[in-house]
Amino acid sequence: MKKHLIKLACHSTPIFLNRNSRLPVLFVMLLITYSCKKKETPTPIVVTPTDTTTLRSVAPFPVGAAMNPDLIKDNTFYYKIASTQYSSLTPENVMKFAATEPALNQFSFSDGDYLVSFAAQNHMRVHAHNLIWYTSLPDWVVNFQGDSLAWESMFKTHIDSVAGHYKGKVASWDVVNEAIRDDNGTLRNQDVSAGDGSIWRRHLGPDYIARAFLYAHAADPNALLFYNDYGQEYDVVKLDSIIALVTGLKARGIPISGIGMEMHINVNDNNTGITTALQKLAATGLLIHISELDISLNPSNNQSMVLTDALEQAQSAEYQFVAETYRAAVPAAQRYGITTWEFSDAASWIPIYYNRPDWPLPFDASYNKKAAFYGLLTGLQK
Ligand code: G3I
Repeated sequence: MKKHLIKLACHSTPIFLNRNSRLPVLFVMLLITYSCKKKETPTPIVVTPTDTTTLRSVAPFPVGAAMNPDLIKDNTFYYKIASTQYSSLTPENVMKFAATEPALNQFSFSDGDYLVSFAAQNHMRVHAHNLIWYTSLPDWVVNFQGDSLAWESMFKTHIDSVAGHYKGKVASWDVVNEAIRDDNGTLRNQDVSAGDGSIWRRHLGPDYIARAFLYAHAADPNALLFYNDYGQEYDVVKLDSIIALVTGLKARGIPISGIGMEMHINVNDNNTGITTALQKLAATGLLIHISELDISLNPSNNQSMVLTDALEQAQSAEYQFVAETYRAAVPAAQRYGITTWEFSDAASWIPIYYNRPDWPLPFDASYNKKAAFYGLLTGLQK
């Protein structure tokens, strides 16, 4: 059952109202009056947030979502939320390698251009995603034949062309995505067939990461450049490796501006890991972007799971915790923002990828606000 949250000035905790049986305004006012009477000094009655309060209006830093151009074009509910709630947009898929260079030296920018123009119309920042990733590559790259010079040329041409096309139109790039392994914090190795290798590491050597940043900077000198990865909140070895990687790049004068902490988490995750990771990342002095936040409710892959109020409330509390902890751990000047990976359960990658029922995002599959929306809203403004 979906709830709406109204936070009363005289209450320390929010009240959740059933959306399907909204209380008449008069009754709410009486409720407020009665509640406030219990206090010795009545405070002015302020109902905040109202149901029209948006995430972007309360957040003291950019608040974003990954978005999909087809859904913006085809779904009016999606369009309305995308154009009103967010101040930052990350293309979920359309700026990746396979989408932008589907054949060698043939580039395709129409979907990305659409998102750039949608963002401009709605006064949103574009955080572009991504230039170099070990997976989701077109077959022609996987099958590419050539010596190391030919690989370097192909790699550089892609970065030059894509970052060059979006020069001045996007604020920032995830330049290198997920280059560190999960198990031991080393670079994804040369064994591509094992599923965790990197074709780039194999053909270009370990310093391909530094060169990707140099090429991206040359193509778009004003763009802020990020290293982006997952698992930093639960794998301290990986976290420390990422910090060593980016601080090493920085020390060499490689143009890196920030770290993306993806944060694909679930309601059972250990919050201490989130706090520790944000504190350690902030200590680098770089910009910190929570770049792909979603909070799974079904990490055990229960095929018959149903969504309950208790789960919704736990998820709401977790969204609030993440936003509050980000504000507490990351100094204002380093807050690049919080981005969720899509915003509606209907568009989340999780149910498809894991083949399970799940509800990881702040809006439900019918584009109604969930308790999670209000948890995030509260955490952003506290
Ligand atoms: O567009 C094709 C469609 O034409 C085709 O019919 C269909 C059949 O499988 O595939 C469609 O492409 C899919 C695409 O999403 C668009 O829906 C791909 O198969 C699928 O692999 C792709 O998944 C994306 C995944 O990255 C891989 O690129 C997810 O949407 C996207 O949410 C996910 O995002 C990643 C971040 O980039 C990096 N961090 C992790 C995050 C979650 O995995």
